[in-house]
Amino acid sequence: MEVSPQFRESEDKQGVTSELQSEILRSTFVIGLPHLSVGSQSVWSQVKKVSILSVIPPIFTKLVVLQGFVTLSLTMAKQFENKIILCTGAGSGIGRATAIKLSQLGATLALTDINPSSLSETLSLCEDGDHFISAFDIGSTEASNAFVASIIKKYSKISHIFNCAGVNPTSLSTVSITDEYWDKLLTTNLKGLFNITRACIPHLTSGASFVNVSSIAGLRPTAGFAVYCASKYGVIGFSKCLALELGPKGIRTNIVAPGYVDTPTNASVVAGKDAVESMERQVSFGRMGTPDEVADLVVFLFGDESRYMNGSVVEINGGLV
Ligand SMILES: NC(=O)c1ccc[n+]([C@@H]2O[C@H](COP(=O)([O-])OP(=O)(O)OC[C@H]3O[C@@H](n4cnc5c(N)ncnc54)[C@H](O)[C@@H]3O)[C@@H](O)[C@H]2O)c1
Repeated sequence: MEVSPQFRESEDKQGVTSELQSEILRSTFVIGLPHLSVGSQSVWSQVKKVSILSVIPPIFTKLVVLQGFVTLSLTMAKQFENKIILCTGAGSGIGRATAIKLSQLGATLALTDINPSSLSETLSLCEDGDHFISAFDIGSTEASNAFVASIIKKYSKISHIFNCAGVNPTSLSTVSITDEYWDKLLTTNLKGLFNITRACIPHLTSGASFVNVSSIAGLRPTAGFAVYCASKYGVIGFSKCLALELGPKGIRTNIVAPGYVDTPTNASVVAGKDAVESMERQVSFGRMGTPDEVADLVVFLFGDESRYMNGSVVEINGGLV
């Protein structure tokens, strides 16, 4: 291969011989380029080896990085291809953002929410795929069992479960908490998660995983949020036991504990601008998180990159003061 005089000059300054440069370039083209269209990771590792063997002259590094970028983009774009992912609370906020992201990464989704119209809207925002939606209350054992049975009938498997549906809190003194409020929060946030989990377990095989949504309120107490805290502490306790029970089968369970996330039912968003500003002052970044930022964490926890994580509680809160 012909190498330009400018290239020779700049690379000679780096202390690399022209012969070595030519050999590296030749190897790169021979090994890397024919495979660019396939997007194979094994080729990328071969290319990386060539890069390490070289003294990494800048132009060569750029070439390799470019090849790697194309190769990895092709691979990562379909990270969840052939995966069936169940997502509860998919009609809004964190559940919706995660469903959209997973669909972009190639997942086939089984989405549910108590609100049929918002669930349909989420579906319309997802990348096309053979997705399945069903609106029901996850507090119902029968409806949860039927949903999971429908997923198995349609796809014959479930790969991952995102237990996201939940009712966010209203600040209430303990004496003013009604039975209805207690039942609503505990039935959705804890029993609903249990219902879906129990129905899924018999269908899971090694490599499957759960990501369950708790909260900062599952890790620290807040006056006025006793019932919500009870439900979210419960999510962590339940999930950590599940991790120990299912870990030996290669099934992972992890927990995300978001801080203040800008969703329609966040207590401060509901209370208005002053409450949001006061909340933001408690965050080192000075802003609320976005549902999309939590979705990125969920993707990581479903992915192979987190394969040694089980029973972990991952806080995502922008740094709370
Ligand atoms: N937004 C935050 O600041 C924040 C912080 C920590 C944890 N969380 C948790 O994140 C999860 C998602 O909350 P979000 O903020 O995106 O709220 P959201 O209100 O935007 O979404 C919650 C979804 O759950 C659905 N849902 C509620 N009850 C249900 C039921 N019984 N059956 C089925 N679906 C039901 C709702 O219809 C809604 O679409 C919840 O578990 C919440 O407690 C939120």
